[in-house]
Amino acid sequence: MDNLPEILVTPRLASIGMAVLAASLEPVPPYAFVLDRGMDPEERLENAILWKALKDRAGSQIKAYDDVGKVPEGVTHIFGRAGHRSDLFQDGLKYPGPNEKSLPYWSMPGFLELAGRSIKLCDLDQADAEVQRLHLEGKDAFVKATRDKYFTKQVPVGTSLWQALDALVYSFIDEEACLLVQELVEMTYEYRLFVVDGQVVTGAGCIPWKTPLDNTALYDPAMIEHRGDTKVGGPAMSNLRLDQYLAFASEAVDQLGGSFVLDVAMINGEVGIVELNPMRLGQVGLYAANAPALVNATLGHFG
Ligand SMILES: Nc1ncnc2c1ncn2[C@@H]1O[C@H](COP(=O)(O)OP(=O)(O)OP(=O)(O)O)[C@@H](O)[C@H]1O
Ligand SMILES: [Mg+2]
Repeated sequence: MDNLPEILVTPRLASIGMAVLAASLEPVPPYAFVLDRGMDPEERLENAILWKALKDRAGSQIKAYDDVGKVPEGVTHIFGRAGHRSDLFQDGLKYPGPNEKSLPYWSMPGFLELAGRSIKLCDLDQADAEVQRLHLEGKDAFVKATRDKYFTKQVPVGTSLWQALDALVYSFIDEEACLLVQELVEMTYEYRLFVVDGQVVTGAGCIPWKTPLDNTALYDPAMIEHRGDTKVGGPAMSNLRLDQYLAFASEAVDQLGGSFVLDVAMINGEVGIVELNPMRLGQVGLYAANAPALVNATLGHFG
């Protein structure tokens, strides 16, 4: 019985081998979801809620991966925290498509009309001149990089663009169209609307501590007056403003078309657009939006 261990082990290995073979023959679900490995607990919670909503809707058609590097070739859609590494899957990927990767909203017809403030697309020297022009008119400036989530800063009268950029100035040298110089305005009651294929599908106030688990209506009425506030404003005021926002959005969407995330606010007392972001599920804050409505619309359009 010297070879007993071998007798016992060999058939087991054989059956494991069969299982591996069977697993590798299983078709790859077309939708991939990349889990959040980041340090921000609120983002991880939103990622989990989004995963649940996608799983409820897509069932066996979707599979979660803890790293985009583990997503097999052959998937057609990548949701979740894939970052720009989903570019690795360019061929054959239906989502994110080119418009979901980057959205130069400042060049979209209609945006400047609806922004409620002056906005100029500049290189470094043009930005300096535009800041000085605003200052001469007695207006403070707000500067934002066109590179995604890279830089935003106020440039009040009495200060310069160079002071605001500081060491970052080197990253803008020799770059065209790298800065958006805006008039600094009062922005209150910021609100996020999700637009899929020209339809506003859900929305919520930009309240950093809220997630879709706090959702109370398709367009959640809760808002904070100023970014950074820790208390939600009264519901009566919020509902009134929400009606204004929805009326504005339906007109804005007619002009802008497509799929995107639309941030609106009261800008110097009138409704206007803060910015647009790509409709990339898993890379954009949901706040208290309705996750199933967003997922249904997104899969309905991009699926
Ligand atoms: N012209 C402006 N005047 C005053 N405040 C502004 C102006 N533009 C934007 N803001 C404020 O700065 C914030 C950030 O601007 P924006 O959303 O355009 O950039 P962002 O890169 O998306 O930054 P974030 O990820 O912090 O939202 C806005 O949410 C708004 O509160
Ligand atoms: Mg923003």
